[in-house]
Amino acid sequence: MDNFHQPVLLKETITLLNCHPGGIYVDGTTGEGGHALHILKTCPNIRLLIGIDRDEDNIEQTNQRLSPFKDKYFLVKGNFSEIKKIISHLKIEAVDGVILDLGVSSHQLLSPSRGFSFLVDGPLDMRTDRQQKTTAGNVVNEFSKEELKKIFWNYGEEKWSAAIAQRIVKRRRETPITTTLELANLVTNAIPARARPRKIHPATRIFQALRIAVNDELTHLEKCLPEAIDVLTPGGRMAVISFHSLEDRIVKTTFREHSRACICPPRIPQCRCGHIPKLKLLTKKPILPTTEEISQNPRSRSARLRGAEKI
Ligand SMILES: C[S@@+](CC[C@H](N)C(=O)[O-])C[C@H]1O[C@@H](n2cnc3c(N)ncnc32)[C@H](O)[C@@H]1O
Repeated sequence: MDNFHQPVLLKETITLLNCHPGGIYVDGTTGEGGHALHILKTCPNIRLLIGIDRDEDNIEQTNQRLSPFKDKYFLVKGNFSEIKKIISHLKIEAVDGVILDLGVSSHQLLSPSRGFSFLVDGPLDMRTDRQQKTTAGNVVNEFSKEELKKIFWNYGEEKWSAAIAQRIVKRRRETPITTTLELANLVTNAIPARARPRKIHPATRIFQALRIAVNDELTHLEKCLPEAIDVLTPGGRMAVISFHSLEDRIVKTTFREHSRACICPPRIPQCRCGHIPKLKLLTKKPILPTTEEISQNPRSRSARLRGAEKI
């Protein structure tokens, strides 16, 4: 096995996408190129694969990895929430498939300097796009106690959000919190020993919540999905892998809303909305990884794949 990020639900995603010769596909979260490479290998006659990622390092690394397919792909450092603008810059009007595999890649997670991990020491950074100004350090040291509590509760569902926010505010009055291990220890100590989770590191939820907040992940997803649906050609497909219940809810709701024939409020007896469905759902329930995949790649355990087809 190589050092690259192991793509999650790979076979299932490629099957959903149903690539065909001559088609144009967008991988909105190219990462380390796992899904992209598989698309190019299994369907070498596609016209183009457009790969988007916020992270320059991942774009550079993937460029080398995909180089044997040099005329078949084009990589863009950008945000998937700008998918319409990105493809129109390439003078493309519609695409045949879009894939999103949300979150962060292994290289990002394991690089101490990126500051995503509570297991290795590094600066409190967590930006997927390093041109962005706000880092996790800014959030932890500058946001109010109430704001921190809200982030920890909303994005991490952390029961001890208030105690952790309180501990952070108290510490930063003495000295700023600058490293990942400093924050991880502080979080652990803010949770009473008897209440600390046993199966995961006590700081897991807080790091996840901070990452979502720093990168404004849910806002970008909410903006991207309707744009992606718009740019799909009839019969074109979308496949989205999420790792967090809030992400999955956004995907589920957006797909549902765009697949319903009527969006009138339930109290209205006769439809007046004239809504035209744009999507057909391909997955009524999300596709989950098999126990075999989870045992080979524990990171896949919370993955959920949903798919839809443009009508
Ligand atoms: C789970 S990884 C994707 C892994 C990839 N499928 C592979 O097999 O290597 C998620 C990637 O999405 C990128 N990303 C997250 N949010 C993004 C956004 N709003 N726009 C573009 N890229 C984003 C991250 O930088 C990261 O590289």
